[in-house]
Amino acid sequence: MELEIKDLHISAEEKEIVKGVSLKIRKGELHVVMGPNGSGKTTLAKAIMGQPDLKATGGDILVDGKSILGMKVDERAKLGIFLQFQNPVEVEGLGFMSFLNAAKGSIYGDRLSFKDFMAEVKNSVSSLSIKEDLIGRSLNFGFSGGEKKKIEILQMAILKPKVAILDEPDSGLDIDAVRVVAEGINQLRSKNEMGILLITHYSRILNYMEPQFIHVMKDGVIIKEGGKELITEVEEKGYNA
Ligand SMILES: Nc1ncnc2c1ncn2[C@@H]1O[C@H](COP(=O)(O)OP(=O)(O)OP(=O)(O)O)[C@@H](O)[C@H]1O
Ligand SMILES: [Mg+2]
Repeated sequence: MELEIKDLHISAEEKEIVKGVSLKIRKGELHVVMGPNGSGKTTLAKAIMGQPDLKATGGDILVDGKSILGMKVDERAKLGIFLQFQNPVEVEGLGFMSFLNAAKGSIYGDRLSFKDFMAEVKNSVSSLSIKEDLIGRSLNFGFSGGEKKKIEILQMAILKPKVAILDEPDSGLDIDAVRVVAEGINQLRSKNEMGILLITHYSRILNYMEPQFIHVMKDGVIIKEGGKELITEVEEKGYNA
């Protein structure tokens, strides 16, 4: 699957936040978006997923050449787009496993037996070093910051998207967890030829990954693009340079 963002403009409450962004993510590619707080990274991510309060006022989002702007979140998910939230919501009373099993069922149309589903989950739980008792609890309810991030990667492992947008999957993770999460993402990327758009503020997670394209976003536009060398440049000089 190829995801193309073409001169995209996004407004929230009449205010333009994304002001003409173009990006193309092909099968298996890893793209990184960096940029100062408030530059519009999360807004871009949510707009790709189809969050209803964000309005596309110009440009287009294309999947394999076809516009998806008219599609709702669930239709985009069925196409294979996945968004990992910067701040996952807690939902008390919604069992994490029944949520995930239902999400998988709605994307793929059929459901695995609960036994097979659980076997698949347990597999990912151990490779991501997630505490087993989390999977028996309500979705994100009372989870620590780092646990929420790992749980999002677990969801990605089970839902197997074609393009994943990861909004700060490394924020709040301890040093070991950053490596575990990076390796989890790498594994999924190579196994499923998943395209990835990864938003981050820190180069640490990128030490364990091979990003091919770095995009620096500021004030709603991409101000610079390059390869991995751009990360060092940003770390040394900051965004104002
Ligand atoms: N629904 C909304 N209504 C009004 N303003 C909004 C809305 N959503 C986002 N914004 C504003 O748009 C700007 C960009 O926000 P966004 O969350 O996309 O930034 P970001 O690049 O992800 O920042 P950070 O690195 O801090 O996560 C911010 O100034 C934010 O307050
Ligand atoms: Mg953000």
